[in-house]
Parts: sequence; structure tokens; C-alpha cells
Amino acid sequence: MSKALVTGGAGFIGSNVVKLLVGEGFDVVVLDNLFSGYRKNLEPFPRVGLIEADVRDEREVARAAEGAEVVFHLAASVGNVRSIENPVDDSEVNVLGTIRVLEAARRAGVRKVVCSSSAAIFGELRRLPIDEEHPAEPDSPYGVSKLAAEKLCLAYSRLYDELEAVCLRYFNVYGVNQRYDAYGNVIPIFAHRMLRGEPLTVYGDGEQTRDFVNVKDVARANLLAARAQGVSGAFNVASGVSTTVNRLTGMLRAASGLDVEVVYAPPRKGEVRDSRADISAARAALGYEPTVGMDEGLAEYMDWAKTELA
Ligand SMILES: NC(=O)c1ccc[n+]([C@@H]2O[C@H](COP(=O)([O-])OP(=O)(O)OC[C@H]3O[C@@H](n4cnc5c(N)ncnc54)[C@H](O)[C@@H]3O)[C@@H](O)[C@H]2O)c1
Repeated sequence: MSKALVTGGAGFIGSNVVKLLVGEGFDVVVLDNLFSGYRKNLEPFPRVGLIEADVRDEREVARAAEGAEVVFHLAASVGNVRSIENPVDDSEVNVLGTIRVLEAARRAGVRKVVCSSSAAIFGELRRLPIDEEHPAEPDSPYGVSKLAAEKLCLAYSRLYDELEAVCLRYFNVYGVNQRYDAYGNVIPIFAHRMLRGEPLTVYGDGEQTRDFVNVKDVARANLLAARAQGVSGAFNVASGVSTTVNRLTGMLRAASGLDVEVVYAPPRKGEVRDSRADISAARAALGYEPTVGMDEGLAEYMDWAKTELA
């Protein structure tokens, strides 16, 4: 059985990666300091070992990587807003933490590092769809630290022939285990408000678009990246479909059977108008294909949210 280390495995996306890996027969170890992750997310997997440690801790990361064939690196300080509030923490965790992981991986003879990156690396969007060649001029410390983490992974893959690295640039990920918090994304915020019978606030006219991708597809992209022999590089992971916020509110109502009022507020400064990824590179190099439609994904999410977020 091959061993996989999942950093950030107690988090939203990480726990979905763990679930998929366990189902595929991997021997999984998680390293997570539970900063924004939950022990509860790992309860369904009693055989998964949790090393409760910081990704910047050299000794603990080395111990976690011992004997691993693949490292899925998801541990991070997540989000633009958090990074503006705590820019030093953001870089320490996302940049130095990634170097720790790469060093441990190299020393342990790991074959592949699959690193979670973000569409935040692009900064202001200049053209659609966004392909991998789109200029990367991040406009938040988070975007910069994720881009630096990508560059480090790819530099390691060039420095060390036996180590491959794939960076996956996620767009708007949603799905089971995505909790509501102060930095929350639109879907958990809307779900939370709907379940409380509170109106949904849409900023602007609601015709802005996002590329929502279900976490099951993101987890599958991680597995495909691990299995793609001889492949290193950075790839977009998204659905390739743009959905307006107005359409999203309608789909959430249909998925939950809950009807709440939608309130329109002035647009927020600095918000991107439209987003849609070109996913053809991941298709060609990894065999990635999104499979979960929004209706199905939102219905599953609302079922989960009814028990978890209410
Ligand atoms: N959710 C999205 O839409 C999205 C989009 C783009 C990229 N990403 C990336 O995906 C990855 C997972 O994000 P998520 O949405 O699941 O967020 P999350 O906050 O649920 O997961 C991050 C995990 O990392 C852990 N962690 C944080 N700091 C740590 C540290 N210093 N040491 C050890 N563990 C630490 C947290 O406890 C948590 O379990 C991150 O790398 C993030 O940048 C997420």
C-alpha cells in the first residue's frame, strides 16, 4: 500500500482528498495544526493518523513525510482577506511552510508533491477564459505567497530529477465540509443565511460570474496529478463554466427547498466581475474532467449544511 502525506488534511478540501485516498487504498497520514481544520473531519477515517503539528516545524514535517510516496500539500493560511490582515503569518505558513514540505519530501525520497494553489495568483483578470498563460500579477499577499509556493515546487522539480511537482490552481471550490467562517465564500454564507431564514445579500446586480467547482472534482484532480507519471507543472482546476450569482441563488433555493428574500447592495470595491477558467491543460496532461454538476453538488451540500451549519 503506498503511503500518502496530506498536509492540511483536516481542512475542507484536505479532508475530501483524504476520503478519496482512503477509498483508493492509500495509507494516509495527515499533518495539520487544526488552525482552520477540524478533527471531526477525520473522524470517519479511524486508520488515518493525525500528526497535530505546524507545517513550519522541520522535525514534525520530516517525521510525517517518512516513507511517503506522494505528498498532497494543502496546509495554508487561506484567503485574500486573512492575508491582508496578517501578511506575515500568510507568508510564513505559505512560503516557508512549502519549503519545509519540499525539503522533507526530497530527503524522504518522495516521488511527487501535489501542491494546492489558487486562482488568486492571477490578480486582476484581463481576459476570459483564464488559461495558464494569463499574467500572474497577484494583488494580495495571499496571491503572492501562493505564487511563490508554486514557483518553489516547480524549482524543486527542476533541481531534483526524481521529484515531480504539480501545482493545482483552484477556482471557487464548494462542497461538503466547507464551513461558514468570517472569510467564507459565497456558497457557505448563502447556505448559512438560508438555513436561518435570513435574506441573501447580493453585491451589485448579481450578474457577476464565478467558476464554481465541486470539491469532489478537486479531490480527483489531486489523485490524477499524483498518478500522472513524468508530469510537473501548474494547472487550472475548475469547472470551466461560469455561473451568475443570481443563478446561484435560484439553484440554492431549488436545492434546499428554502425560499428566502434576496437583497441587493452596492457593488463591493475590488471585486472581480467575471471569472471562468480554461481547463484544457489539466484535461490534456492529467486527464482531468469535472463530473459534478452544480445542481447535484448544491443539493448534496445543502443536505450536509442542514445538519452542520444550522
Ligand atoms: N477553498 C477554496 O476555494 C480554495 C481556492 C483556491 C485554493 N485553495 C487552497 O486549497 C488549500 C486548502 O484550502 P481549504 O479551502 O480546504 O481551507 P482550510 O482552511 O479548510 O484548510 C487549510 C488547512 O490547513 C491547516 N493549516 C493552516 N495553517 C497550518 C499550519 N501552519 N500548519 C499546519 N496546518 C495548517 C488548517 O488547519 C486547515 O486544516 C489551501 O492551500 C488553499 O490555499 C482553496
